[in-house]
Amino acid sequence: MKARGRFTNRFGFIAAAAGSAVGLGNIWKFPFEVANGGGAAFVIMYLIFCFILCFPVMVTEIAIGRKTEKDPVGAFKALGFPRWNFIGKMGVLAGLLILSFYNVVAGWAFGYFVQLTFGNFDIGDNFGEYINNIGRVGSYGAVFMLATAYVVSKGISGGIEKASKILMPTLVGMMLILVIYSMTLPHAFEGIKYYLIPQFQEINFKVVYNALGQAFFSLSLGMGALITYGSYVSKNNNIISSAALITISDAGIAFLAGLMMFPFVAYLTQGAVHTVEGGPGFIFQVLPGAFESMGPMIGRIIGALFFLLLSFAALTSTISLLEVPVAYAVDELKVNRTYAVWFIALFIFLMGVPSLLSNGDSQFFTNFVTYIGAEKPTNFLDFVGHIGSDTLLPLGGFLITIFAAYVWKKNNLNEEIETGYPGFKGSFVEKYIDFAVSYLCPTVLGVIFLLTLLNRFFGVEFF
Ligand code: PHE
Repeated sequence: MKARGRFTNRFGFIAAAAGSAVGLGNIWKFPFEVANGGGAAFVIMYLIFCFILCFPVMVTEIAIGRKTEKDPVGAFKALGFPRWNFIGKMGVLAGLLILSFYNVVAGWAFGYFVQLTFGNFDIGDNFGEYINNIGRVGSYGAVFMLATAYVVSKGISGGIEKASKILMPTLVGMMLILVIYSMTLPHAFEGIKYYLIPQFQEINFKVVYNALGQAFFSLSLGMGALITYGSYVSKNNNIISSAALITISDAGIAFLAGLMMFPFVAYLTQGAVHTVEGGPGFIFQVLPGAFESMGPMIGRIIGALFFLLLSFAALTSTISLLEVPVAYAVDELKVNRTYAVWFIALFIFLMGVPSLLSNGDSQFFTNFVTYIGAEKPTNFLDFVGHIGSDTLLPLGGFLITIFAAYVWKKNNLNEEIETGYPGFKGSFVEKYIDFAVSYLCPTVLGVIFLLTLLNRFFGVEFF
C-alpha cells in the first residue's frame, strides 16, 4: 500500500494547523461578533474559552490522530472502539456542510479582491446585488474550490504543507502592514477604544455561546480536522507546545484583525463606531467605503491587499476542511487520492449551490426556515452554518473528550502526549489536561451545547 503522507517537520505541521485555524472565522466573523458582544467583553471571553476550554480538546484531537495515523473515522476503530467511529462520521459530515457554505463566502472575498484591484469601490454599496449575481459569485466560488482541490490533490508535504508555509507567513506580513496603516488613520484611537474597553453590561447568554462557538470554529475543533492533521505528524513532535503555538497564532491573528478593523470603521464613521451594525455583511459592505476615502491609488492597494489576505486565510482553512472527507475516502474507502479530491470537491461545490442562491435569488432558500420564537426566517447559508458549525462542532468536542477520558482512558492519552514530550509526566500541564478532559470540557461543552440548541432553534431565553 502507498504510504500515507507526512508533514516534513514541525514548522510544516504548525503552519498547516494554524492555517486551518486562521480563516474567515478570525477576520470576517470575529470583528462583528466583537461589535455585537460588548467589545472587549467578548474578546476576554473568547480568549478564556480558547485557552482554558479549547486547548485541551485540541491536544486530545492531535494525540488521537498521531497515535492511530488514521482519518477521524478510522481512528476510533484503530483504537479498538469501532462503535465510537460515529464521532468521526459526524466530523466528516460537519466538514462537508461547513465547506459548502464557507466556500461561498470565500468566493465573495476573492471576488472582492478582483473588484478592488480594478478600483470598483462601489461594490460595498452594491453588496446585495453582487451576491445575487449567481454567475459571477458562482465563478469566484468555483475558482476557489479548484484552488483548494488542487492543493489537496498534491498530498500532505507537497500540497498542504507547501502551500501553508508560503501563505501563512505572507498573511502575517500583510496583516502587520494593514494594522500599522490603519493605526495612522484619523479617529483610529476611537476605534481601538471601542475594541479594547469592555462593556460587560452587553453580555447575555447569546454572547457567551457565540464566544464559545466562535472559539471552536476558529480553532477548527470538534470535527476531526486536527485528528486528521495530527495523523501526519511524527512521533517526536511535542503535542502540547504545538497545540499552544496553534492556539496562540489563532487568537493572536483574531486579535490583530480587530486592531486592523476597528480603526477602519472608526475612520469611516468619524469615530461613531457604535453606529455600524455587526452582521455577516460587516466587512463586505462597510470596508470598501473606507478604502475609497483613502484615495484612488492607496485605497486600491490597501483594499486589494485586505481581500487578498482574507482569501489566503480562507484557502488554508478550506484545504483542511476538504482534507477531512478526503482522508476518510482514502484511508477507509481505499479510493485513490486524486479521484477522491476531485469528486468530493465537485460534490461539495454542488452542495453549496443552495447557499449561493440563499441571498435573494431563490425565495425558497432565502426564507428557508423560521425557528420557533424567531422573528425572521433564516436563510439556507446561515442554517447550514448553524447545523454544521454551531451545533456539530461543540457536540463533536463534547463527545471527543468523553471518549478520551472514559472510553480510551486518560492513561493512554497521557502516554501518547508523553511521546515527544517526556517532561509531561507529573507536570502541572498534565494535571490540568487531566482535569479539563475528564470534567471541565465535557460539563461546560455539554451544558452550553444543550442551552444553545434550546435557545437557537426553540427560542428559549436564558439570561
Ligand atoms: N477555523 C476556520 C476559520 O476560522 C474554519 C474551520 C472550521 C476550518 C473547522 C476547519 C475546520 O475560518
